[in-house]
Amino acid sequence: MLETDARDRVIVALDCDRERALELAHELSGHAAWLKVGMTLYYAEGPEIVKTFKDLGFKVFLDLKFHDIPHQVRGAARSASLAGADLLSVHGSGAMLAACREGAEEAREDRAKLVAITVLTSMNQDALAEIGVESPVAEEAARLAKLAQVNGIDGIVCSPMEAHDMRELLAPDALIVTPGVRPVGAALGDQSRVATPSQAIERGASHIVVGRPITGADDPVAAFDAIVAELVENVA
Ligand code: C5P
Repeated sequence: MLETDARDRVIVALDCDRERALELAHELSGHAAWLKVGMTLYYAEGPEIVKTFKDLGFKVFLDLKFHDIPHQVRGAARSASLAGADLLSVHGSGAMLAACREGAEEAREDRAKLVAITVLTSMNQDALAEIGVESPVAEEAARLAKLAQVNGIDGIVCSPMEAHDMRELLAPDALIVTPGVRPVGAALGDQSRVATPSQAIERGASHIVVGRPITGADDPVAAFDAIVAELVENVA
């Protein structure tokens, strides 16, 4: 894989406070192409943080996992798009999907891309049964992924373990974003079912989300560059 392509596949998750996030963004500027802003940072800092990262030249995945009535999700997608996000996440639960797409379209001509959360990886079969879902996890995830696709969502978020099946199920150009990625030798933290960056991409991920192995490293830029190098070396 070419280096420029590899750099565009790694989304750095900044799950930290504003000060540290800005420090990391300045360090990674010119190296990383994508940053992920999650609820922790966004609910503290609001749309300004997205604008700041955009001004530094990053693409921003605003991972707020919208889940509400269609009217509210439409508004949320519109507002998040106006803040400048390039990629947004929404739960794959029915009517909110089409509303999310509408909100993104209303906000900008070059609309933000959208990915759906199918079954949270924190949910297992028992947890699904508790909320009345009897189908096997993989079947439920596949059903929601297809539902997202027919509702105009550009892709999904899933574990690297599911990426292969999801790539077979969805269009070849669908976005498949996988967290749970750990470079060889990196600490697992609270992730359990992990893959290396090249394994995740080879299984079908279009983008990988990596947080602590980069943000917690003594030299975050070197950690990021090592991931890119591993992709360049191992992915055709
Ligand atoms: O630090 P780490 O690499 O584990 O960060 C992974 C990021 O991906 C975090 O922002 C986390 O919230 C997110 N994520 C995850 N597992 C999921 C969905 C999202 O780790 N199933």
